[in-house]
Amino acid sequence: MTTGDDPVKLMKQQVGKAAAERVQSGSIVGLGTGSTTAYAIQFLGDRLKSGELKDIKGVPTSFQASVLAKQYGIPLTTLDEIDHIDIAIDGADEVDPQHNLIKGGGAAHTREKVVDSLAAQFIVVVDSSKIVDRLGSTFAVPVEVLPMAIAPVTRAVQKLGGQPELRMGVKKDGPVITDQGNMVLDVKFEAIDNPAELEKTLNNIPGVLENGLFVGLADLVLVGEIENEQPKVRQM
Ligand code: A5P
Repeated sequence: MTTGDDPVKLMKQQVGKAAAERVQSGSIVGLGTGSTTAYAIQFLGDRLKSGELKDIKGVPTSFQASVLAKQYGIPLTTLDEIDHIDIAIDGADEVDPQHNLIKGGGAAHTREKVVDSLAAQFIVVVDSSKIVDRLGSTFAVPVEVLPMAIAPVTRAVQKLGGQPELRMGVKKDGPVITDQGNMVLDVKFEAIDNPAELEKTLNNIPGVLENGLFVGLADLVLVGEIENEQPKVRQM
């Protein structure tokens, strides 16, 4: 590693590559969203280009994933055209020791949960900064909400003890609008004692489409880290 290298970028690159290497020819692949998965998509494209990998189809979890897949030459398909997904590769904002996740930093958690939950193998790719002892330690829970229901959902999550904040756009005035045309509340909880329970409770509020708690879904967590100034990948 040279001093000019960004260690977080290096960790993300390595872990993205490690996940892409696990994809076999003929697979249907869930393509996650975010800066780490972007490297996996890039490496999948490289493997296709070199001929080492053949005949894969990607199921994108967002406009970002579909734009990247097209850029790197990965053929795409939809859930209407297939009946299974062999492997999904996706990032996370937090990972706890039970491999439960918070996702949705890119507001893509709704489609991500659909695709990742259908995969026979769901591989999570993160750098070491994402590992926490307890979910909610560093990250709020993203909750996708129908725009007309923002006010009642805000009150409902406050009643649950959360502190909601409407996610605002960057280089766009006003709130973030998801790929489905909804808004996102980032809800900070003091402590998430029971992620499985909270995931269900949040999704039960009328007007909530999906939240970013992914409980019991990850099959494998690959962690990129720096050891002796070298990027390494370990299985959690
Ligand atoms: C997208 O909504 C998210 O779930 C991402 O997968 C998550 O935020 C991780 O993104 P990075 O790999 O960019 O940290």
